[in-house]
Amino acid sequence: MNKLSHTVSEAEVIGVFSGKGGVGKSVFSVNFSIALSQLKKRVLIVDLDIGMGNIEQLVNHPAHCHIADWIKGRLPLNRVIEEGPGHVAFISGGSGLQELFRLDEENLHFFLEQMKLIKNSYDYIIFDFGAGITSDTLQFVLAVHRLILITTPEPTAMADGYSALKMICSKNAGIPLACVVNQVSKAGEGKETWERLSSVCRRFIGADVKWLMALHGDPSVIRSVRAQVPCLLLYPGTRFSIEMRLLARSFIAGENASPGIPVFSSFLNKVRAYFKLSGGD
Ligand SMILES: Nc1ncnc2c1ncn2[C@@H]1O[C@H](COP(=O)(O)OP(=O)(O)OP(=O)(O)O)[C@@H](O)[C@H]1O
Ligand SMILES: [Mg+2]
Repeated sequence: MNKLSHTVSEAEVIGVFSGKGGVGKSVFSVNFSIALSQLKKRVLIVDLDIGMGNIEQLVNHPAHCHIADWIKGRLPLNRVIEEGPGHVAFISGGSGLQELFRLDEENLHFFLEQMKLIKNSYDYIIFDFGAGITSDTLQFVLAVHRLILITTPEPTAMADGYSALKMICSKNAGIPLACVVNQVSKAGEGKETWERLSSVCRRFIGADVKWLMALHGDPSVIRSVRAQVPCLLLYPGTRFSIEMRLLARSFIAGENASPGIPVFSSFLNKVRAYFKLSGGD
């Protein structure tokens, strides 16, 4: 696939998840999206952290409308999509997100029809999930084209990440999985963490978790969160930002090398199937 074919293709939906909370999913989602956007990709982040969405705080851009208001009010998409910094668009979770995950059939149809309208407007739609896999989020986690697990080298984060992977693979063994190890403190620590996790996954759940990248624990990230400006924009020269840009490059290179780019309708159809809805695309 060349660059041109990707810009005319349909959006790929990527889910960012973890077992344990606070490992850096939202920081990753925002900065990864900005790095992709700097590589001329069009990115939309959807904040799906139930009850605790905080993308708007991370980018200091209060949203006019949240997912629940949008769905309940049957509002047009331009009311809920915000243009954030770094040319990255986002949909804010806000509170009341349970309503999205416990949609009745009519609301879910509205959500899917609206998503269909933007399938050609973005290269990537990134779902930033809350920590852990709950019965509320499971259907959406299972429906995405690709999942990225964020963990840290801490045994608790790894163990919780493994539990989440086990739950996912018991329902959909075929979903492409990759791992980012965040907040490493020394060279080699990220890859060692991934090797341990991926070998347990291969052995006990038959899952193939691909390696993506290690991101160092970096004080510039903490400063950027406090300043509410994404690290890539506030401190583009720090280790974290350099690693994030490398990650985005190698992610795109990996995608270009692997055949069979998913079509958006496969995401819509899977959501319908998991929610046992009729219709299809
Ligand atoms: N690479 C890093 N270096 C230093 N600090 C980091 C790094 N990544 C994340 N952090 C710190 O971890 C905090 C939590 O990050 P973030 O909010 O992205 O976690 P999360 O996984 O989305 O949490 P939740 O599960 O609550 O949604 C950040 O506010 C930041 O202080
Ligand atoms: Mg988060």
